[in-house]
Amino acid sequence: MSAKVDVLLGAQWGDEGKGKVVDVIAPEYDVIARFQGGPNAGHTLIFEGFKHVLHTIPSGVFREGTVNLVGNGVVIDPIIFLKEVKALEKIGVDVRRNLLISRRAHLILPTHRALDAASEAEKGKAKIGSTLKGIGPTYMDKTGRNGLRVGDLERSDLMDRFNALQRKHDRLLAMHDHQSDLREATQEWLDAAQQLRAMSLVDSEHYLDEALRAGKRVLAEGAQGTLLDIDFGTYPFVTSSNTISAGACTGLGVAPNRLGRVVGIFKAYSTRVGSGPFPTELHDEVGEHIRTAGHEFGSTTGRPRRCGWLDLPALHYAVMINGITELAMMKSDVLNHMGTVRICTAYKVDGRVTERLPYDITGNLEPVYEDMPGWGDLDVNNALPDSLQNYIARIEAAVGVPIKLVSLGPDRAETVHREAALVP
Ligand code: IMP
Repeated sequence: MSAKVDVLLGAQWGDEGKGKVVDVIAPEYDVIARFQGGPNAGHTLIFEGFKHVLHTIPSGVFREGTVNLVGNGVVIDPIIFLKEVKALEKIGVDVRRNLLISRRAHLILPTHRALDAASEAEKGKAKIGSTLKGIGPTYMDKTGRNGLRVGDLERSDLMDRFNALQRKHDRLLAMHDHQSDLREATQEWLDAAQQLRAMSLVDSEHYLDEALRAGKRVLAEGAQGTLLDIDFGTYPFVTSSNTISAGACTGLGVAPNRLGRVVGIFKAYSTRVGSGPFPTELHDEVGEHIRTAGHEFGSTTGRPRRCGWLDLPALHYAVMINGITELAMMKSDVLNHMGTVRICTAYKVDGRVTERLPYDITGNLEPVYEDMPGWGDLDVNNALPDSLQNYIARIEAAVGVPIKLVSLGPDRAETVHREAALVP
């Protein structure tokens, strides 16, 4: 019998700390595979006093012997990708040896980035707050059947395809009245694309099939988070891919019955970067404190993140839609010394209380809070304080799955593995 693919993904609006958990559990796996998103992601890993931010490369890259696969569901900007590879090589990581790239992954062109900027500028106040990495326009070309794929880099008519797509983009940019001179970026892109072509390109669906048949353990690494999913997130304030566990099937070429554990990552509070509804957002000094204590500034864009209390109806929704089998709670230490911590257990919608995430969470929706005693300092060498244990138990009771990992700080070492009592 072949092995299963476990999935690790964000259960909130992204930035949950997925990179750290992948890095911590990577030794359990032979292959770490990214299945969606692109350089809009910023997965931060901290160990031995160094901080590393990964955008497209899977977070298993620092573990020797782990294969890192960029799946077909990912969109790749060759310029950013190459910079990332070179930055890792500079610190002595032999990235290319264990890095595989799907031929079916789509490529982000400089004109995709320009289209992203033009689209956001046109939206004005209604803008998504995109990272402007060209993600949306690239997925639009994918579903519109106009896209350029990594496998096209091996074709003799590459330049014809590239020029045809660029001409289409030029026409669109002219309609947007968007001026930009991309000649330099185009040359840089073509050079980087040639270097990408020289890396290990694979048919990842076959690679994974063979790996699973050989009993290899595979972890699918998600980017962004459930509430940014194109179908089930807070549309239109979402990213352009399926960030949920089903995305691992289409983004890697793995059948649904081959999925195993689904690990949902969430923070002990909530954050969101960019526009869109956020029911538990704090506009006061408590939100400011969380932002400062949690260093809640975008790892890709540097933008300050919006901060708020933990939202259980939203977390429960994520558990349901992803089939999450276990959770990891990150950044518990950010709430240290808060006296009281609040937790949103339900919403009041038009005077009615519901624990269900409704279709529309803008407008007339008010969070219902429960107050719980806070905790002091946390230390991996001591048992978790009772108040934090109670907080954990309250979440587990609401969402019905165990919290198996609790993070008490950014370093690999600041991690507690719990044998949770909730589920047999
Ligand atoms: P885009 O995917 O860059 O177009 O951004 C769409 C929305 O998703 C914006 O609100 C971004 O701030 C958000 N977003 C995209 N990538 C990430 C991420 O990795 N973490 C958190 N938010 C993200």
